[in-house]
Amino acid sequence: MAIKISSSELRIGMYMHKLGGSWLKHPFLRSSFLLEDNNDIKRIIKAGIKEVWIDESKGLSRELKQIEETQEADLIEEPPVEIINEEAVGSMEEEIDRARKFCNAAKEQVKEMFDEVRLGKAIDSEVTIPLVGEIEMLVQRNASAILSVARLKTHDDYTYMHSIAVCALMLSLAHQLDFDEEQTQLAGVGGLMHDLGKALMPTEILSKPGKLTDAEFVTVRRHPQAGATVLQENGAAPEVIDIALHHHEKVNGSGYPDGLAGDDISLLARMGAICDVYDAVTSERPYKKAWDPSYAIQAMAKWEGHFDKKLFAVFVKSIGIYPVGSLVRLSTKRLAVVVEPGADSLLKPKVKVFFSISAKAAIEVQIIDLASPSCKVTIEGPENPEKWGFKSLEHFWL
Ligand SMILES: [Fe+2]
Repeated sequence: MAIKISSSELRIGMYMHKLGGSWLKHPFLRSSFLLEDNNDIKRIIKAGIKEVWIDESKGLSRELKQIEETQEADLIEEPPVEIINEEAVGSMEEEIDRARKFCNAAKEQVKEMFDEVRLGKAIDSEVTIPLVGEIEMLVQRNASAILSVARLKTHDDYTYMHSIAVCALMLSLAHQLDFDEEQTQLAGVGGLMHDLGKALMPTEILSKPGKLTDAEFVTVRRHPQAGATVLQENGAAPEVIDIALHHHEKVNGSGYPDGLAGDDISLLARMGAICDVYDAVTSERPYKKAWDPSYAIQAMAKWEGHFDKKLFAVFVKSIGIYPVGSLVRLSTKRLAVVVEPGADSLLKPKVKVFFSISAKAAIEVQIIDLASPSCKVTIEGPENPEKWGFKSLEHFWL
């Protein structure tokens, strides 16, 4: 059975069952492990974690002297969840700006993580795990802002921004599924690290602009196993390893590497599959244009046998039917870009109208809040920007 002790009581040989306080500050790739290194105790204390749970059946117990001292001193109760968003949440523009600044700095840290793996070095979890905490904070503040910004990638930062985006999508989906703190953290860490195996794949294949040959496909398909091995070596939690290993499985059994089907694929891995594909198709790649977000949702919903359909419906709820940046056709026969999600309804976001379908011409940009009681305009459906020859719609919301 796990018992709660003060972090100052930790000794080598104790088995860590769970770290106390908010997970956002936890500096480890897993929360259950045997304490074998004094540095780990120092890291726990340095991270400001005041209480921990130890499992006395798997490691050393507290000494009698310590128990007496603790009973006398009484443990200081920590609040279960820390208030992390101390600064008031700003407007959509402000939160997009905050997300942009974060992504610019964070992608460098994710790049370092990939470089460490490439060089066969240990992953510095003190840098990477708090990143997941920061992404969680941004998701809590304004999920649409971080999700929209993380969707934008360049050729060079694709893999790193994809890791951040999948992490944010996983956290957002975890909230929609009412995950507890521990499961939420695992989903986030797994999202950030799901493609870590790509660090060990030849760059010329990963950045090849054209179609891959069969032999190149075989090579790239090794990345889930390669990532899982690296994570195992770094002592990651089994759930995080599972996400890396099985995010390319499909519910009909036609995925890889193990051809798992249905519920044999864990919930976290099924979540990973959806978040990974959504971010990949809505990102620009050397060989394809980025799909419009709501168009991508509509297309993915029609794919048979790829995703867990029920889970996909929850995913759509988590990101909205018309995510920020989507091109939509209005009942007034005009085209608009979604700039802010609707507060109460997924179907009634704030949009910027900029194009007349009948006149086939740009019109003066106007912001409409479809949720406003006086507004009679509705969305008829998503539109494919390519069909209209729109190169970029980002300037409308970024
Ligand atoms: Fe992958």
